[in-house]
Amino acid sequence: MTSAVPSAVATALEDVDPELRAALLACWTDVSNAGGAVGFVPPVTADDVAPALDALLTRVAQGRERVVVLRVDGELAGWAVLSLSVSPLRRHWATVLRVQVHPARQGQGLGRALMTGVHDAARDLGLEMLHLTVRGGYGLEGFYAGLGYREFGRMPGAIRVAPGDDREEVHLFVRL
Ligand SMILES: CC(C)(COP(=O)(O)OP(=O)(O)OC[C@H]1O[C@@H](n2cnc3c(N)ncnc32)[C@H](O)[C@@H]1OP(=O)(O)O)[C@@H](O)C(=O)NCCC(=O)NCCS
Repeated sequence: MTSAVPSAVATALEDVDPELRAALLACWTDVSNAGGAVGFVPPVTADDVAPALDALLTRVAQGRERVVVLRVDGELAGWAVLSLSVSPLRRHWATVLRVQVHPARQGQGLGRALMTGVHDAARDLGLEMLHLTVRGGYGLEGFYAGLGYREFGRMPGAIRVAPGDDREEVHLFVRL
């Protein structure tokens, strides 16, 4: 898959080698420390993030999740996760998690390229719909609206970024 950045290529993976694990960990840590809404509140170290990454990679090895990586000139620029449903009633859709582009590369069309790769991978899996949530107050709904996502609800106070600082969680979906 190519994008506005001609050398950007998105690939869905069913397994992750140690070199890619290190790149995913560095990216997740850097994105979190730049204030990205991907499961942590800064500051974090790679040691803080590693248990969450390794749990994710276990689910990938079990076939429950796929990692979609975006590379530019062969270097990891961003990644996201497709989390497949275990329920037989929900196998026609999946949840997208951990959408991130490295801070040094944001604002160049790579987030759009990454999500296009996620959508292609989802279609290849026969999925019809995707769901994701975003933290309220980060302005991320605009990014997803540009990709066709529509809001269908908000859970007040779902995310406690700090004591006394609860944020709502916005639920979005797109038909593929
Ligand atoms: C959100 C994120 C993935 C977007 O990636 P990006 O490479 O910066 O985005 P792009 O350059 O591809 O932008 C694509 C479009 O979305 C728009 N956009 C990007 N971020 C936006 C935001 N926060 N609010 C509104 N619009 C936004 C861009 O203006 C662009 O619009 P255009 O196509 O009309 O020009 C990236 O900023 C990121 O990794 N953020 C930190 C992690 C995070 O919070 N992830 C979200 C988890 S739900």
